[in-house]
Amino acid sequence: MKLLITGGGGFVGARLARTLLARPQLDGQAITQLVLTDIAPPPADLLADPRVQARTGTLLSQTPAISGEDFDGVFHLASAVSGECELDFELGLRSNLDSTRALLDALRARGAESGKVPKFVFSSSVAVFGPDASVPMPPRVADDTLPAPQTSYGTHKLMCEYLIADYTRKGYIDGRSARLMTVTVRPGRPNGAASSFFSGIIREPLAGVVSVCPVDPEVSHPMSSPSQTVDGLIKVYEATREQLGGRLALNLPGLNVRVADMLAALEEVAGPKVRALVRFERNEGIAGIVANWPTGSSAERAGKLGLKPYTQFAEIIREYIADCQAGPNAQDTLKGMQ
Ligand SMILES: NC(=O)c1ccc[n+]([C@@H]2O[C@H](COP(=O)([O-])OP(=O)(O)OC[C@H]3O[C@@H](n4cnc5c(N)ncnc54)[C@H](O)[C@@H]3O)[C@@H](O)[C@H]2O)c1
Repeated sequence: MKLLITGGGGFVGARLARTLLARPQLDGQAITQLVLTDIAPPPADLLADPRVQARTGTLLSQTPAISGEDFDGVFHLASAVSGECELDFELGLRSNLDSTRALLDALRARGAESGKVPKFVFSSSVAVFGPDASVPMPPRVADDTLPAPQTSYGTHKLMCEYLIADYTRKGYIDGRSARLMTVTVRPGRPNGAASSFFSGIIREPLAGVVSVCPVDPEVSHPMSSPSQTVDGLIKVYEATREQLGGRLALNLPGLNVRVADMLAALEEVAGPKVRALVRFERNEGIAGIVANWPTGSSAERAGKLGLKPYTQFAEIIREYIADCQAGPNAQDTLKGMQ
């Protein structure tokens, strides 16, 4: 089968690619070709796999080629992150909304010739939810909570969810949107997402570096790990329409956790010296954005697909440590533990 991952050079996209290539099959078929598109090239290990073809450039520049190819499935992950979209309104529209529409139309145009209806998984976000004076946000956002995004990023994600549901209704794609919870621990450097600190307060101390937490310890949010997120995307891909139980987006599972719980877990796993590297310095800008985010979530429909969150944040930290230990830079990434 021939698959496309947009955003295949990114954090989740590259991990998804690795996981898919290591599996014997997806949806009962072996993967013979995996096209990764992104502004940035994918990591070298992926480029070394003969099944991988990397195409570098904006998604908008790639869609004319895509309209001439038969894909069995698409994971659409390319996206500008929340902070970038707030800073640059045009960039957000172009990267997240216009690109998705162009991708969907490329697949529709191809399908009109080939009769193929590709499976299509879209990585939506918990950022579609937010408070509105007319619709108070419940403490745990559920599959059927009315979305009320409070950022351009969340708004574009929601618009894309609806586009995907409609292209599916019309029979152009077999689409499904999975709302990712905040994925921690993200390796590498902080990114432009307002949620970046959720990873930073674990990743930096483990590396022996001071981390500043910009929100109060009582702030609570739903989190998932990279491996759980990738498993969720794959399960949602493989689910039948009947198993999905509808065209509308579903929540992926998250562990509802307070910053204070995250730091207690850090101390449990890595000790008090590592925990002591986190200090609190309130940043009104970030705290203001986070105040509009869900404090927790539930994922009933994903649960029916067999997806469950971890029950302890320590498990998420241990997953990150194991990933670092398997990588080439463990001496640096886990310096705080030495
Ligand atoms: N990581 C999270 O906590 C989280 C939470 C909710 C939703 N999501 C969604 O999951 C997906 C993957 O997230 P991630 O953490 O891997 O993000 P990421 O930033 O690491 O990866 C996204 C990739 O998309 C690429 N990209 C951005 N604009 C593009 C464009 N116009 N054309 C082509 N490529 C473009 C970037 O270069 C990047 O490599 C995204 O859609 C994101 O919105 C992530």
